[in-house]
Parts: sequence; structure tokens; C-alpha cells
Amino acid sequence: MAISENNTKSKKLWGGRFAGATAASVEAFTESISYDRRLYSYDIMGSKAHATMLEAGGLLSSEELTVIIDGLSAIETSIDEERFSFKSELEDIHMNIEKALIDAIGPAGAKLHSARSRNDQIALDLRLYLRDQCDCIMALLDDTRRAFVGLARRYMGQVMPGYTHLQRAQPVLISHHMMAYFEMFGRDRERIADCRKRINILPLGAAAMAGTGLPINREMVAELLGFDKVTANSMDTSGDRDFAIEFVSCCTMIQLHLSRLSEELVLWSSQEFSFVTIADKFCTGSSIMPQKKNPDIPELIRGKSGRVVGSLMSLITLMKGLPLTYNRDLQEDKEPVFDAVDTVSASLAIMAEMLGNLEFNTRRMEDATKTGFMTATDLADYLVLHDVPFREAHGIVGRAVASCIERGCELTDLTLAEIRKFSPVIDNDIFGVLSVRGSVDSRVSTGGTATLRVEEAVSAAEKQMGIGD
Ligand code: ARG
Repeated sequence: MAISENNTKSKKLWGGRFAGATAASVEAFTESISYDRRLYSYDIMGSKAHATMLEAGGLLSSEELTVIIDGLSAIETSIDEERFSFKSELEDIHMNIEKALIDAIGPAGAKLHSARSRNDQIALDLRLYLRDQCDCIMALLDDTRRAFVGLARRYMGQVMPGYTHLQRAQPVLISHHMMAYFEMFGRDRERIADCRKRINILPLGAAAMAGTGLPINREMVAELLGFDKVTANSMDTSGDRDFAIEFVSCCTMIQLHLSRLSEELVLWSSQEFSFVTIADKFCTGSSIMPQKKNPDIPELIRGKSGRVVGSLMSLITLMKGLPLTYNRDLQEDKEPVFDAVDTVSASLAIMAEMLGNLEFNTRRMEDATKTGFMTATDLADYLVLHDVPFREAHGIVGRAVASCIERGCELTDLTLAEIRKFSPVIDNDIFGVLSVRGSVDSRVSTGGTATLRVEEAVSAAEKQMGIGD
């Protein structure tokens, strides 16, 4: 491949030791401005705090600080308004902004990079960005969790089959199933909140990797930018992306939960289940089969989990062989992080909206609890309460079920005399025990599906989420 060069000396901000210009192919290969431009507001925020600290330490005059701050504000406005021209020959967001500042205000701008390296600068930008993303994702998780509490309240008391191995297992309340997701996304929220603590530590001041001899005040910068503290080791700081991996792994867990939920919605909206109707505005049709109404949203959310898992794999693999400290490989962290953020945020937002428009077919769900011997465990528990050892009880119920299968009936279709043949301890009260409602409401153990327990859980969640205040 021909290498194109312009034969003048390097025009880079770092060009002093270079005799020739960079090859155009190299500029195209090494640039990150095409994607790291999305960090511009954080880069500017960080530079303003850095400059403020430099002035306090006597490295900038107050006049210089003023022109730097004003210059940075003007650059931010021009980027906001899409008037800024990003240049790939300036590699990344840091140098695009610094060069524009120097062009605009002259020598004061050239002092901004004192006591700083792009290595600690990019770590700062990424931490500031991810801190905001933690807050956004927590808010989106809360919207989703509120949607589940809303559904749980709306369908309180209605029953459905609970499954293990996707086989009908035991009857549960629809609300109990909804509150399972409330818990799952609650853990996701806790994880993000915890991850945020390790993100919210100031890296600036590590400089290239060894710290700096210039008089800086890292604690002041931390305070200005709302960080809880400063990082402890400059070498660790300059090459650390644990916080990004941790964040994307939190995103992966969220997307995984969304994907499991999506799988259920796809199943439930099938004609075979017909448990839910997803509002028309959240479905699409087929270009060939006029009768089709497809659950595209949950399908796409499920499909997009591959992207998030992929982003996590990219980051882990990226870090695996890196010696301390900063290596240019780290530039490859941005796109997976951004893609994970975009995918999880969009998936959570649309899921919350769709849940608010979901209709359960409660008749169909209740009917589904009436077949499949779903209260067989209740019969076994009944025997246990009459002093039959559980293993023996299990065998008795197994034989009763087998005989029902042979006769093509359910346990509840047997007469008292018929059912007593399997165990003489059985009495007339067994029919209440074998009823779906009786079964559900008997499960009063903490975290169980009894209406009493689920009502408590939903009320607590409503309180926690500020619903109904
Ligand atoms: N664009 C770079 C990145 O994303 C910024 C840091 C570059 N540092 C360097 N010494 N070349 O990692």
C-alpha cells in the first residue's frame, strides 16, 4: 500500500521530535475522534477543573485562567451546536479541543496541558462519562421496576402456572412472577450503585504514569469534579480499566435479565400460550403473512444481549495481556463501553414502555393451572402434616397421579373414597388443599406466593418506589 505523506515537519501537538509528517494511513488507523468525540463535555469539564487548580497553584495567572475557561466554554458551545470541525489528524478528543483552544486564545491555551497527560485525561473523561451513565441507567432501572410493581398491583390475586424445566410446576400469583423481575432489576441497580463508587475516584494527577513534580492539588480537582477521593497509585491509575469492565459486566447482567424476560414475553404471546397481548404499537407485521403480529421488541432485546456480552468479552480480552501502565490498546475500550451503554439504555427504556402496555389474559392463565397436577405437592404436604414421612408421601402422590393419568383425569376429579385408597389419612378437607387458590394461599413462607405475602411485597415495593404517595 502506498504511504502518503506531506513532506513538511510534523504539525502535531506532540510533533517536536518528529522530522516528518505522519502517514495518512496511520492517521486513519490511529484516530479515535470519530467515536471519542462523545466525551467532549467531560473533557472540557475536566480541563476547566484542571486549569482552576493550576491557577490556584500559581502555574496560571488569573487572567490566563479566565481566557482558558471562556475559550473552553466557547468550544463547548460550538460542539453543542455542531459548528466545531473535528480533525482526524488531531487523533482524539483531547487534542482536538486543546488545539482549538490554542488557536483561539494563544499562549495561555498552550499552558493548559501542564502537569497532565492524555493518559490520565482519558481515564478522567471515561470516569466522568460512566458516572453519569450509572445515574441514567439507575433511573431507567427504576422505571422498569415501577412498571413491574404496576403490573403486580393490577393483577393482584390472579393465578398462573409457575414452571420449572418449562413444565407446569405449581400455581403462583401473576404478581409473584412480576415481583421476581422487580427483585432481579433491584439487584442490578445495587450493582450499578456499587460500581459507581469505584468509578467516582479521581485519576487526574497520575500524569503519564509516575505522577508529576509540578505543584498540583489533586484533592482540589476531586472536590471540583465531585469525586469522592483521588486514586492512590499513579501507575495503577494510568493503566486501570477495571471500572469500565465492572460497569459493562453490570450492563451484561441487566441485558441478561432483559433477555430472560423477553424470552418469556415471546413465549407468552405465542398462540400456544396466549398469556399476554402485547399492544399493537409494540409489534410489527409480516410482509408475506397477513395474519402475523410479531413480538419484535422482546426478540430484539433478546438478540441485542449478544452485543453486550460481546462488549464485555472485548474489554476483558483487551486488558488480559497488558503490561503496566498505559498502552495504546486502551483506546479500544471506548466503543465496547459506548455500545453497551447504548444497547442497555435503549432496551430498558423500550421494555419499561412496553410493560406499561401489556395485557394479561387472566382467564387463559388461570385455566392453565387446572391441568397438569399442579397441586400434587400440596397433597404430599398434606400427608406430611398428617405425619406421613415426606419420601413416603411423595410415593403415594406419585401413584395417585399415575392412576389419574391412566384414567385421563385430574386429582380433583377423584372422589374422597377413591383418593383415600392411596392413603387412609386423607379426609374431606383435601379438596380445599388441592384447589389452585388453596395451594397458592397456603405458601405463606417468607418470599412465598401466598396472596398475603405477595401483597406485603407489592406494598413494600410501592413504598420504596414512591408509588401512590
Ligand atoms: N485516545 C487515547 C485513548 O483513548 C488517549 C490517550 C492517548 N495517550 C497516548 N499516550 N497516546 O486511550
